[in-house]
Amino acid sequence: MKILLINGSPKGEKSNSLRLSRAFVEGLREVWPDAETEELVINDLHVEKCIGCLNCWKRTPGRCFQNDDMAAAIDKTREADLLIWSFPLYYYSLPGSLKIFYDRQVPTMKPVMMERTDGKGNGKHASRYDLSHQRNVLISTCGFCYYKGNYDAVKAQFDLILGVGNYETLFCGQGEMFPVPFLKDRVEEYLGHCREAGRDYASCGCILPATRAKLDETIMPKDKFEEMADSYYAHCAAKAAAREKAAAEAAARGE
Ligand SMILES: Cc1cc2nc3c(=O)[nH]c(=O)nc-3n(C[C@H](O)[C@H](O)[C@H](O)COP(=O)(O)O)c2cc1C
Repeated sequence: MKILLINGSPKGEKSNSLRLSRAFVEGLREVWPDAETEELVINDLHVEKCIGCLNCWKRTPGRCFQNDDMAAAIDKTREADLLIWSFPLYYYSLPGSLKIFYDRQVPTMKPVMMERTDGKGNGKHASRYDLSHQRNVLISTCGFCYYKGNYDAVKAQFDLILGVGNYETLFCGQGEMFPVPFLKDRVEEYLGHCREAGRDYASCGCILPATRAKLDETIMPKDKFEEMADSYYAHCAAKAAAREKAAAEAAARGE
């Protein structure tokens, strides 16, 4: 069993989502102690944008002309039995760097046009590779209070890419609360639920309803969360205004 945790947060090690993903992997490894685990940090890779030439289907089928880290990354993703996509929600979607990483998967697909049978979209492409051994989990935090409703675009996209029911999700609101010191105990409790979700997934192939119910509880009550978030950003704005005023006064004095 090879687990590949793809850290798609531009914040790298400081990612809130990564904390959930690592807890989930810890849970997996309690059930699968022999599993090999590797982390791929999108931020650390040199990945150029897809330029849309489709030469990976025409001149050099299966291979992109760009000489960057993508070919090696594709080898890693192909070999993995379980891909964990860990990312923040940006504008109700994937962060740009992860979208670029996904766009660069085109060489792994065959161009032949195929019909869909799942009632989603119309048309699809098949992989060049046998990925029947592979499963996918999406783990993500977002900034609003609740995750529900905010991931509709992500789910619509992955329903088309991976197929409805072919992936598991662990989404969580209030992501910016994870590093807050006074919430340490609550965050540890929540990460415990993520570990439990990992154990469920390794044992049953899904997150069980009892665990899901715990994961669906907010980190903080909505009113307290929103009050705290709003007053924090108001405090930041006041400090920024004070800094700008001091800089303008210094400039006026000729300093
Ligand atoms: C460019 C940008 C766009 C964002 N868009 C959303 C959004 O659409 N909905 C939301 O709830 N949070 C949004 N957020 C907040 C992040 O999803 C949130 O801070 C998340 O916990 C960051 O995760 P990470 O630490 O794993 O990178 C956005 C943040 C940034 C920087």
